[in-house]
Amino acid sequence: MTTHKGFDPQAFRAALGTFTTGVTIITTRAQDGEAVGITANSFNSVSLDPPLVLWSLAKNARSLSVFSGARHWNVHVLSAGQEALSGRFARQGEDKFAGLELDDGISKAPLLQGCTARFQCRTAFSYDGGDHIIFVGEVLAYDRSELPPLVFQSGQYAIAARKPREELRLGATPPPECSYTEDLLGYLLGRAHYQMLHALRQLLSTQALDERSFFILSVLSIRDRLTLDELNAFIAYTGMLASPESMDVLEAQRLVALETDDGEARYVMTADGREASLRQIALAKAVEEDVSAKLGAGDAMALKLLLKRLIASSDPGMPDLWSPR
Ligand SMILES: Cc1cc2nc3c(=O)[nH]c(=O)nc-3n(C[C@H](O)[C@H](O)[C@H](O)COP(=O)(O)O)c2cc1C
Repeated sequence: MTTHKGFDPQAFRAALGTFTTGVTIITTRAQDGEAVGITANSFNSVSLDPPLVLWSLAKNARSLSVFSGARHWNVHVLSAGQEALSGRFARQGEDKFAGLELDDGISKAPLLQGCTARFQCRTAFSYDGGDHIIFVGEVLAYDRSELPPLVFQSGQYAIAARKPREELRLGATPPPECSYTEDLLGYLLGRAHYQMLHALRQLLSTQALDERSFFILSVLSIRDRLTLDELNAFIAYTGMLASPESMDVLEAQRLVALETDDGEARYVMTADGREASLRQIALAKAVEEDVSAKLGAGDAMALKLLLKRLIASSDPGMPDLWSPR
C-alpha cells in the first residue's frame, strides 16, 4: 500500500472534517440475534433509481464481521436531540441498545425511534476502501419526521440554521457618515426583544404592572419566599432594583405578601399574583409558538442555543435562577 508522503494524518482529518455532515446510527443483527450498531457520518446518497445509499465502516470496528455478513441494515439520521445516543453508539464496550425501545421493521435489524429519517436497506454491494469497507445498500423502505437533524462539523456536534433563499438585508452597507449599522448585534437583539415583547407589554398595561413588577413576579413564580436582597440578586441583570416602595405597590395590588420567617422578612406570591403571572407565561408561550412556527423548529433551536451562549459569555456572575437550591 502507498503511503502518501507529506500527508499529516491529523491535518488531513481536520481538512476532511470541514465537510459538514449529518450523523447516523447504522444497525444490524448478528446471526445469533445480537443487536449491533455504530455511529457513522460517512453516510451518503448514491442513486435515486434504483434507490441506493452508502456508508463506510472502519476495518478495525468490532462490528465489521457482523455487518459484512448481514443482508439487511438500517440507517437512522439522528435528530438534534440525539447527541447522547450518537455518543453511545460511537463507544465500544457498552450495551449500546440497553433501555432503547425499538420499532418493527421489514427485517430483524433494530429500528430506533426519535430520528429525523430512517432508511431500511438490503446490502447491494461492498467494496474495499483503504482502511474502510464501503457498503452500498438498496433502500427498501424509509420514513421521516419533522425533527431537526443533528449536524457534525470539524469534530463537533452542531445544529443547522437555514439560510433563507431571499436575501436578508444583513450586512447592508450603511451610509459612510453613520457608524450605526443594521447588522449591529445590540440593535438586532434590542429590536427582536421589543418586537417579541410587544404583546406582553400590552398585557402588563392591562394588569397595571410596570416592567420591574413583571420581573419581580417572574422571579417569585420560579422561587417563592425571597428576601428583598435575594430578589434583587435575581433581577440585577436587568439594571432594575426592587425597592421596599415598589414591593409596597405590589402588596397593595394584592399580588405579593410579606411574611416574617425567623425574624426575616420574605416576599411570597399571593393567589392573585400567581394568576397574573400565569397569564403572562401563557402569553409568552403563545408568542414563542408563533415565532417558532415561522422560524421552523431547527432554527428556533439554533437561535436559543446561540442566545444561551451569548448570555453565558456576557454573564457578570449573577446567581442562576433555575438551578436547584
Ligand atoms: C460523529 C461520528 C461519526 C463516525 N463515523 C464513522 C464512520 O463513518 N465509520 C466508522 O467506521 N466509524 C465512525 N465513527 C466511529 C464509530 O462510531 C466508533 O468507532 C464505534 O465505536 C465503532 O463501533 P464498534 O467498534 O463497536 O463496531 C464515527 C464516530 C462519530 C462520533
